[in-house]
Amino acid sequence: MLVLGIETSCDETAAALVADGKEILSSVIATQLDLLRKYGGVVPEVAARRHTELIGYVVQEALDRTGKTLDDVEAVAVTAWQGLVGCLLVGVAAAKSLSYARNLPLVGVHHIEGHIYANRLSHPDIPFPHVCLTVSGGHTMILYVDEGRYELLGTTLDDAAGEAFDKIAKFLGMGFPGGPVIDKLAREGNRHAFRFPRPMLRANNYDFSFSGLKTAVINMFKGPVARGEALPLADIAASFQEAVVDVLVGKTLRAAVERGVDAVSVTGGVSANSRLRAAFTEAGQRRGFRVFFPDLSLCTDNAAMIAAAGYAKIERGEQAGLSLDVLPSAPLPGRAGG
Ligand code: KG4
Ligand code: ZN
Repeated sequence: MLVLGIETSCDETAAALVADGKEILSSVIATQLDLLRKYGGVVPEVAARRHTELIGYVVQEALDRTGKTLDDVEAVAVTAWQGLVGCLLVGVAAAKSLSYARNLPLVGVHHIEGHIYANRLSHPDIPFPHVCLTVSGGHTMILYVDEGRYELLGTTLDDAAGEAFDKIAKFLGMGFPGGPVIDKLAREGNRHAFRFPRPMLRANNYDFSFSGLKTAVINMFKGPVARGEALPLADIAASFQEAVVDVLVGKTLRAAVERGVDAVSVTGGVSANSRLRAAFTEAGQRRGFRVFFPDLSLCTDNAAMIAAAGYAKIERGEQAGLSLDVLPSAPLPGRAGG
């Protein structure tokens, strides 16, 4: 089955064609980096307007790259839940139009479920159940994942991990988005140069809080920044990144132990982080866990993951109708009775 995926929940306008939930035939992503750099972050209304301008071209490009036409598409999957409401509306309106005009099955996908399926696209052998850390600019969550059922074990109480990367990079004048810049610079730095707090690492739950870490970094360097002094940027980047990585790895593996699973998946934009990948892999080997990461191209927002998640939902008989509506914040499908 050829599924057209559409993703517009934040600042990427994306469309993809995926066969049988497994094979990516095309994946087109139009980023809004020019707008991000201009405003220093996502402006919801501006992002939504850009989606409106681009969505038709992006869908056409996804078809053109494969030599397919709409006649070949057999279902449309779209991110409907979790994201900026105006942005979600653009993708859902486009998907509904295609579904109606072509009489195609329509399926709504939760953005986080999409990230989870990004890892399944890269590793079809990920076992169920497993523990999944979904970590990006908008969310930091530990989930217990069974096929199509999700139990939220913990989430961030304030900033998401990616948001902390973005805010620290902005404070240090490194540009946007901060994650990739800090990741690159940290490779030249000493991760033990500064001892930043590891918020909630020892707390008896799976929640996170990255706002305090961000404030600790800012408080330590705001004087020198205000005076325009040169800073040891690589050491700050490496030490900050190490604090985030310690917390993410420590809490996720503890959840895996307590839930009795031997497989862990890490998804979302921050799962592209090279130090996070290395630390998880090393700790997993040491403690007997298999750790799965998506291919780098599938870590950040894309529509292939939405098509893959949509295909699985269609297989489970979870289709939507034209009354499909968006929700900016929504729980994932829960466990039976949960
Ligand atoms: O999944 P995503 O594209 O969008 C959301 O759903 O939020 O994630 C974007 C986030 C940004 O905060 C970005 O700074 C972060 O992922 N990110 C990274 C890296 N690449 C992207 N963070 C750390 N290291 C990276 N290499
Ligand atoms: Zn995302």
